[in-house]
Amino acid sequence: MIYHDAIVVGGGLAGLRAAIELNRHNIKVAIISKVHPIRSHSVAAQGGINAPLGNHPRGAYDNWEKHAFDTVKGSDYLADQDAVIRMTKEAAERIYEMEHWGCPFSRTTEGKIAQRPFGGAGFPRTCYAADKTGHALLHTLYQQTIRFKQAAERNEITIYEEWLVTDLVIEDGVCVGVIALDIVSGRLEAFQAGAVIFATGGAGRIYGNSTNALINTGMGMAVPYWAGVPLKDMEFIQFHPTTLLGKNILITEGCRGEGGFLLNNKGERFLAKYSDSQKDMEVAPRDIIARNITCEIMSGGGFDNSYVHLDLRHLGEEKILKRLPGIRDICMEFVGVDPVTTPIPIQPGQHYTMGGIDCNIECETMVKGFYAAGESACVSVHGANRLGGNSLLDTIVFGAIAGANAARYVHGLGGRKGKGALNDALKRTEQRINALCKSEGNEVPADIKATLNKVMDNKVGIFREAPQLREAFNEVKNLQERYKRIKLNYTGKLVNLSFAWALELKGDLDVAAAVVAGALAREESRGSHFRTDFPKRDDGGWLKHTQAYFSTDGVRLDYKPVNIGPFEPKERKY
Ligand code: FUM
Repeated sequence: MIYHDAIVVGGGLAGLRAAIELNRHNIKVAIISKVHPIRSHSVAAQGGINAPLGNHPRGAYDNWEKHAFDTVKGSDYLADQDAVIRMTKEAAERIYEMEHWGCPFSRTTEGKIAQRPFGGAGFPRTCYAADKTGHALLHTLYQQTIRFKQAAERNEITIYEEWLVTDLVIEDGVCVGVIALDIVSGRLEAFQAGAVIFATGGAGRIYGNSTNALINTGMGMAVPYWAGVPLKDMEFIQFHPTTLLGKNILITEGCRGEGGFLLNNKGERFLAKYSDSQKDMEVAPRDIIARNITCEIMSGGGFDNSYVHLDLRHLGEEKILKRLPGIRDICMEFVGVDPVTTPIPIQPGQHYTMGGIDCNIECETMVKGFYAAGESACVSVHGANRLGGNSLLDTIVFGAIAGANAARYVHGLGGRKGKGALNDALKRTEQRINALCKSEGNEVPADIKATLNKVMDNKVGIFREAPQLREAFNEVKNLQERYKRIKLNYTGKLVNLSFAWALELKGDLDVAAAVVAGALAREESRGSHFRTDFPKRDDGGWLKHTQAYFSTDGVRLDYKPVNIGPFEPKERKY
């Protein structure tokens, strides 16, 4: 059995920031990550990170209150306002910290951190590093992790790369560690810890048409869910308006922030036709633009009934090369289009999981010693619709909060606990894995995953209604049954990725079931969740968070109140 004072699961921005904070508090911390930390999906974030710095000529009057208001309004009033206020108040400090740690932000002519407009924001407040902001932030944090790891005056940070956490171990309501599989050797190990933080990212790959990396499976959320921790607001799935046709690679909102136009097949800026986007046009919130693009395509305004154009040509080559070089590379590489001369074919695609592991403003869950942060968590600061640029902010603000709180908790512990529970859990997991390896079923895991992706794309998308959601519910249930009869094509232990994927597939299915159940139950339209059979927001009945609990008989739903603060819920007008 391996012991660390604290364990952080996930090596992306939230995980690294949490580990650094633990380390600063003299806690010996281990990061367990399915991939090398700089391969975490945070690296793919493009357009930027929000903070009301006021560095843009049109941003002088920006402040945290305005950022908080925009975030709450963008969330369609489902975000917890105490959490939003905490995030927006701490935003500037966290950004300057990243700057001082060496993050290569783009600069204004005066040398300040450059900011660009993003959707749903009253002021240009999205700080950026060209169109590779996630890359810049993640490398900066990884460098700091290495620095703290090596500094003599610090306690250690240990990194377990390419380890998949399979179980969260809880004894008498207290988290005592995790079970993890070393993907390289195939060894299963029990990790004992005073505190565990999950920062495993989103579950976007329960969908097929997604901007997410293939590593973003349901497993990170499923592991605590199986252990009894509820998932919150899982029905709220964000569809990014602009993903590359057919590939669904993210084409950053920064393109529109810099002045790009969305055009239909007549060359019209069609957002002007829709009442909720005619004022803000290309910088209206994401849920609205994704819906309006879909409506435009459905009503015959698209190309081949499947896409519209994002036109950057008028920005000019110099600006495109300076601010959007990665987008140009992606377009040239993947669809042979140079945005300097040709519009980009785009369509909406799954992008973000607003819901996640239920936790409070301190990143504490219902289990003592177990914390969550980043996209795998639902604090909730994004409510029913996240504003672009707020997810990166969420990772570093709540990563730091989770780390600080876990450190305090560990310092208060009397001694190591849970050895027996961890040994038992290890044995159970070994048995589960052996049974999976010996299974003589006839179901191919890849077929189950492909079917799941299709069901989620086609029946739990931007526009939803009861008949399709019911079909999706039954189809996911059927896939869960089929999973019990899977047959692995290879059961060798060393670097057996197909085996790891088969393990994760159960997480995909169970998390997808929670998404569908929440979506079917929520009979209203709010933010990203648009029910064509219930097209209005219903504050009387549905201004509440969904809590999904795992049970072997299926998902059990419950609800809890939203923390309403200074911003009274109003009709969301843009
Ligand atoms: O469009 C983007 O660059 C994505 C940003 C975000 O999801 O926050």
